This record gives sequence, structure tokens and C-alpha cells, in this order.
Amino acid sequence: MRKPFIAANWKMYKTTGETKDFITNFLPAVKAVDNVDIVLAPPFISLSLAGDLLKGSNVMLSAQDLYFEAEGAYTGEVSAKMILDVGCKWVIVGHSERRQYFNESDDFLNKKTKAAKAAGLGVIFCIGESLDERNSGKMFDIIKREVEGGLKDVDTDNLVVAYEPIWAIGTGVTATPDQAQEAHAFVRDRLRDMYGAKADDIRILYGGSVKPDNVTEIMSKPDVDGALVGGASLKPDSFEKIVKFG
Ligand code: 13P
Repeated sequence: MRKPFIAANWKMYKTTGETKDFITNFLPAVKAVDNVDIVLAPPFISLSLAGDLLKGSNVMLSAQDLYFEAEGAYTGEVSAKMILDVGCKWVIVGHSERRQYFNESDDFLNKKTKAAKAAGLGVIFCIGESLDERNSGKMFDIIKREVEGGLKDVDTDNLVVAYEPIWAIGTGVTATPDQAQEAHAFVRDRLRDMYGAKADDIRILYGGSVKPDNVTEIMSKPDVDGALVGGASLKPDSFEKIVKFG
């Protein structure tokens, strides 16, 4: 019912040359995979090249961020239209690293999400609590606030939500499958409050130290519909194993 969705978030890794090497190796290895939506999110500077290399393939392209204005004097920023123009179908919005290091608020991320959707991009909208928030019992409040704030007045078309507990990102500590399921079920309930039955069609991805050897177990949970992968997506053979989970 919900097709698995597995995305590589390369963060600030890989030059254009390294991007080309990855894609040249990866595409033939996954060309027969038709039961998973596969997405690569390289840095902005490689999107145009990656868009050309992925054209006509079964691997979709995503940006890692955008700015919400259509164009203008915003030095250093990139618009939805520019992202679409180089072949992206998706954009990541609200990654915890953007929230944490660049102070992006729920309101600001809501504007980005709306701008992306209005331009025709799908959005991978990220949420997740820190270890302090979890330990102090605020986890569900934080997740609720992030979902309701970031997705206010946003429709469900081409909307994917990624639950990424901050304490599991890049740490090698993965949420247990039960912890992931608990959070995902809570997210889906909030989405049901907002969207009714349409919430059952929204893919909710887990992110945080997903690796070839833990992906199958996490994906076996009923509300886990995919993965957003950082470190283990940087090598073609490792990411190939992840998209061929099961
Ligand atoms: P890691 O897979 O490196 O923990 O990163 C997860 C992540 O932040 C993906 O967006």
C-alpha cells in the first residue's frame, strides 16, 4: 500500500567528481529495483550533474534544502524553481542540522514547505527530538509541535515525513525498531488529526544510523515506510544493500 521510500542524504559530502563516480557505480546495481522509491540528495553544487546522470533512470533526485522566496537578492540561497530545473523531484526540509545549526524555526520551515509544494516539488519533511528532550519526557510534545507547525496548511500530495531522533544521527546508536514504531505511530496519529484517512497514505521514514545490517528489522515495523540514510549512503555498495533490504 505504501511503497517503501529510501533516500540518501549526503549532507556536506562529495565533490562533483565523487558524485559522478557514485552514480556511475550505483545505477547499474539498482536498475532492476522497482519495489522501492530510491532518492539521492547530493549537495546543491552536484545537482545539475546528478540530474543529467539520473535522467531516465529509476533513481530520483532531491535537494537538501531550499529558500522560500521565488527569486531575489538573497545571497547564497537557492529557490524551488532552480531545484526543479535541474531535475529534482524532491527537497528535504527541516533536517535537525538545519534546525540546530541554522536556527530554522517551525514557521520558517512551514514557509519553505509551502514554497516547495507550490512549485511542484515533493517534500521530505524532517522532525525528531534530542536526547535531552526524550529524557525529560518532552519527546511527544516536540514531535507534535514540529509536525503541526511545519505542516500547517500543507496538503498531503508528495509529502513524506522523516522521523530522525537527533541522538541517533551519525552516532551509531540506532533507535530500536520498537522505539521507531512508537514514534512513527504517534506521528501518524498527529497526521490523522490533520488529514484524516489520507494520513494512511503518507510515507514516514526513519533516519538515524540506518545501515545494511539493521534496515530490514526497522523496515519490518508497520508504520516505518522507508529510511533517510546519511553515513551509510555514501558508498554505492552499502546504499545498494540498504535499498535491497529484506
Ligand atoms: P546517519 O545515517 O549518518 O545517522 O544520518 C542520518 C540523517 O541525518 C539522514 O538525514
